[in-house]
Amino acid sequence: MAGVELNLSSPNTPSLRDLREPPAFAELAQRLSDAKDKPSYLKIPPYVDENEFKDTMLLVKKWEDLGFEGVTASNSMRIPDERMAIGTGGYSGPPLIEHTKAAVEKIRKSVDSSFEINAVGGISSPTDAAALLGMGATTVQLFTALVYQGPALVKSIITDPGVRQVIDARSSSTLSEPPPKATKKRG
Ligand SMILES: Cc1cc2nc3c(=O)[nH]c(=O)nc-3n(C[C@H](O)[C@H](O)[C@H](O)COP(=O)(O)O)c2cc1C
Repeated sequence: MAGVELNLSSPNTPSLRDLREPPAFAELAQRLSDAKDKPSYLKIPPYVDENEFKDTMLLVKKWEDLGFEGVTASNSMRIPDERMAIGTGGYSGPPLIEHTKAAVEKIRKSVDSSFEINAVGGISSPTDAAALLGMGATTVQLFTALVYQGPALVKSIITDPGVRQVIDARSSSTLSEPPPKATKKRG
């Protein structure tokens, strides 16, 4: 096992939402931090408004402050639908792409550049992948598009010149950044 992902974002598991209450989340995250031995990621739900975004960012910042590696943004989007036995379902695929872009852009502004953002939600082309990597995603992940387009989509993304260009630009800017300043010792 290369890493761990904590999924508190399933749209169909109401009890998971209890764990997103700040005190419950703080306790869970602290316990995971104490037991951590692999890179660990928090999978967050999509937000529907600014208040939800603020609530989610409290969890993301806590996760970052505890030294975890990154977040996966985001899960499918909960929607009410009477045709479902439980009265709700979850959107996945292309309807999510604009949300995913906005989430990556906003999260990247609030976290350290070394904090990883794994973008997922509606990515269905090399253009989507390049856009998200350019907006600050560290990695991209596919689910629905893989079902509809098959594994050839992965090849088309990783061999796409636009994707390559974004990754190359990012590596060269990382290399050209000055090394971090030494922290002054007190006393
Ligand atoms: C049928 C189905 C099952 C899923 N099951 C899980 C799951 O068990 N755990 C999870 O974290 N996300 C699950 N997801 C969410 C996906 O991992 C992904 O976050 C979401 O579908 C958005 O990405 P996409 O637009 O590329 O599908 C599921 C999505 C679908 C469509």
